[in-house]
Amino acid sequence: MKNYKQLLLANRAWAIELVEEKPDFFERQAHGQKPEFLWIGCSDSRVSPEQMTMTPPGGMFLHRNIANLVNHDDLNLMSVLQYAVTVLGVKHLIVCGHYGCGGVKAALDGGTTGPVDDWLQTARNVADDHWEELGNQSTPEAKLNRFVEFNVRDQLVNLARTATVQDAFAKKQDLWLHGWVYDIRDGRIKPLMEIDRDTTLEAVPHPRRVLLSQDEIRAAL
Ligand code: CO
Repeated sequence: MKNYKQLLLANRAWAIELVEEKPDFFERQAHGQKPEFLWIGCSDSRVSPEQMTMTPPGGMFLHRNIANLVNHDDLNLMSVLQYAVTVLGVKHLIVCGHYGCGGVKAALDGGTTGPVDDWLQTARNVADDHWEELGNQSTPEAKLNRFVEFNVRDQLVNLARTATVQDAFAKKQDLWLHGWVYDIRDGRIKPLMEIDRDTTLEAVPHPRRVLLSQDEIRAAL
């Protein structure tokens, strides 16, 4: 069981290749970071934010947790967010969920224990808030996919309501929030929702109102 050594070998090859292409790459990295994006996504091993957006090192500040939840009591995410927005000055906050999310499914199906069970409460709240529409879905897969989308939207709203984002909006700092879903079946990201400082958050217990139209989604691709 020495598969982990593969990681070290691959890393060596990666670093050598990068230096061959750009001899000063690591020298410049050492001078600091100025990413434009904060990515908040699921910990799922199939969702690889930098790879699937072809973002080089230094391009993206990252936070991942099970089911890409935004909880105001989560010191980990709240400090990542504060640092990204107030110190690094990122311009785009992205909450990206994914179809086939095991965390979201577990929030729906139950059967979890321990810390995972506690953690998923934020996702169960989403299901409670949208139980009627979730119940109308014709198949279990459609229900899960819809739940994944509702979860992204509601977490984006949670994000918009944080003190960090509200302060940035009040100062008219350039900041846009994006809710996306990644499809593990075809590798495509689907934009679902956007929030900026002009979005009326009171409208967002019904976040469908600020959903992108299909034309807008097509124009964004
Ligand atoms: Co997931």
